Amino acid sequence: MKIPFNLPYVSGKENKYISDAVNHSSNPEYESYNNKCKKFIKERWNYKDLFMTSSCTAALEVCALILDIKKGDEVIIPSYTFPSTANAFIRQGAKIVFADSRSDYPGIDEKKLGSLITKRTKAIVPVHYAGIACDMNEIMKVAEKHNLYVVEDAASAIDSKYVTKQLGSIGHLGCLSFHQTKNLHCLEGGAIILNDDSFLKRIKYILEKGTNRNELVSGLVERYEWVDIGSSYMMTELHAAFLYAQLEKAEWIKKKRMSLWEEYYNSLLILQGKGILKLPNIPEYAYHNAHTFYLILNSTDSKESLRKFLSDNSIQAAVHYTSLDLSKFWKENYSKISKNPNSLRYNDCLLRLPLYNTMTKEEVSYITSSVLNYFNF
Ligand SMILES: Cc1ncc(COP(=O)(O)O)c(C=O)c1O
Repeated sequence: MKIPFNLPYVSGKENKYISDAVNHSSNPEYESYNNKCKKFIKERWNYKDLFMTSSCTAALEVCALILDIKKGDEVIIPSYTFPSTANAFIRQGAKIVFADSRSDYPGIDEKKLGSLITKRTKAIVPVHYAGIACDMNEIMKVAEKHNLYVVEDAASAIDSKYVTKQLGSIGHLGCLSFHQTKNLHCLEGGAIILNDDSFLKRIKYILEKGTNRNELVSGLVERYEWVDIGSSYMMTELHAAFLYAQLEKAEWIKKKRMSLWEEYYNSLLILQGKGILKLPNIPEYAYHNAHTFYLILNSTDSKESLRKFLSDNSIQAAVHYTSLDLSKFWKENYSKISKNPNSLRYNDCLLRLPLYNTMTKEEVSYITSSVLNYFNF
């Protein structure tokens, strides 16, 4: 048995919908898959408004443009995240200010935000790590007090909630990823969620390469032109056709992943009880989507040693983010000093176990037995 870390899911209808998009898109009756995906996501997860994008990276870049982020602005992001969270803002000239993770969970520590805010702070970008919500109530309170924008990086968090609210629907803007490592995917894809109507007009320009083409399509103008800054940020119709086939399986995917996640949790709980490692902590306000199952070992050495043992047993476990303030790029260009001990711990000690939609309980059982066996249980 060889178990990969991830196996991108195929529902079976992707080819049919793609060929539909190729063969029928000029038919006047044809409703675009882009529109179908948008409607499906909006209705199922109760979002105010959203647009499909080419990736979550693109969605984050659109957010930085809409918020007019520029040189001199400061943007607070967790250091334990993917480079796209920072790139979107740094390429606009903003200064990135790193916040530490919580000690009990890799998400941003809401209690440390206050001390990072200055007169130049413009936005906070919480990342819902592993689809597990940050404390959005506290983050929104801080943002309101200081008049800041909040952009939720919900890359891994489709189908996750903060209490009753979908992640991505709470800040001013939210970003989703449909990359092939996510629960629902189209190889590369994303969405930007708008929770504030005032962004609506500009977002259409930005997504349409800085033009008012959508006004031409709606018959409002006779020709379109350059009206704003923008780029090629929209999801292609072929990616949308692929994604629609996955969205139709959203309910099954969530249930399936949750049952695998719980199997991992229940089987490995004994190791947490003995202080050997920590399992994911789900805060009481978070309802997660079983995107990731991770372990936090007591040291880098024990994490590497377990990873090697699993690899020798044909199980591909994976580390996750290199904290951005420990990365080559940051250290060479900005600072060699890292002041985020919790982020450092996740950088060093977090190990993700395989989890994908078609995985079987037998495979999870083989992995949990191997982990228990490694620790002599
Ligand atoms: C927190 C976070 N933000 C953004 C991204 C980028 O997503 P995408 O690959 O859709 O551009 C990722 C990628 O996994 C991520 O983990």
